[in-house]
Amino acid sequence: MKPNIATRVAEARKFLKRKSEAGFTIGLVPTMGFLHEGHLSLVRRARRENDTCVVSIFVNPLQFGPSEDFDAYPRDMDRDLDLLASEGVELVFSPGVKEVFSCDCSTIVSEKKLSGFLCGSARPGHFDGVCTIVLKLFNILRPDRAYFGEKDYQQLQVIRRMVRDLDMEVEVIGCPIVREEDGLALSSRNTYLSEAEREQALALSRALGEVRSVFADGERDCRSILAVVRKVVGSYPMVRLEYAEVCDAEDLSPVERVDRKVVVALAARVGRARLIDNTVLAP
Ligand code: PAJ
Repeated sequence: MKPNIATRVAEARKFLKRKSEAGFTIGLVPTMGFLHEGHLSLVRRARRENDTCVVSIFVNPLQFGPSEDFDAYPRDMDRDLDLLASEGVELVFSPGVKEVFSCDCSTIVSEKKLSGFLCGSARPGHFDGVCTIVLKLFNILRPDRAYFGEKDYQQLQVIRRMVRDLDMEVEVIGCPIVREEDGLALSSRNTYLSEAEREQALALSRALGEVRSVFADGERDCRSILAVVRKVVGSYPMVRLEYAEVCDAEDLSPVERVDRKVVVALAARVGRARLIDNTVLAP
């Protein structure tokens, strides 16, 4: 069955208010569309754990920098709706930009600690844009649970922090990274890759595979771990590493030794695509 589609805030509110008044729990999967198996893994989990599943599709201009790919970001609403219909999603919220941001909108939500490193340094203002839209989606849709991928590990931790700090009544659930068979993490931006670039993009998951292997052999020194990353990525000439860091898995502060749960996070440019990937290591 086709999902109900709400393009207006009031419509989505009305639909979901009826559900929660009937005692149904609501699971939300926020997305920017151009859906793939990574998104769908979140949708399946939301469906399993809640009575009603709502997916938002909104390419959020606020989280793109002025020289980033907002206009070029891939979009295919018909295909997305077909996929969501086959997953049994009840409501798709897909508003236009003007419906969400009035032209004199002057309030943003800014997480001040975890947002400063990693993608936050490379993309100033990005996480303000993410927090603002996610908070708005939570206010509009009032989910009991919201599902985010560990693929965007920093985003997940920033949202957890925002929810904690602002006493929001929603359970944030992190879901594992879905990969292609050869290891490439699924991403809507993989569509930017040429065939040769697609091959080179394996540098990220291969570097992380090598990291997991030296970690299993007892390596705990972060400098050595990062040297492994640089060596592997360095053997892929079309890949420009933007950052490689080992950080505390919760507050994302840099660490020197893996003496607690950490995340090894990478970002790289391959052609015009900016790709990220990560792995969590727990001693
Ligand atoms: P988008 O990139 O569309 O991703 C939507 C959700 O899918 C995010 O939680 C992301 O982490 C998850 N996801 C993407 N690729 C994945 C993969 N390979 N495996 C598992 N999960 C994956 O992230 C955003 O949109 C936006 O920033 C958003 C949260 C919607 C706010 O605008």
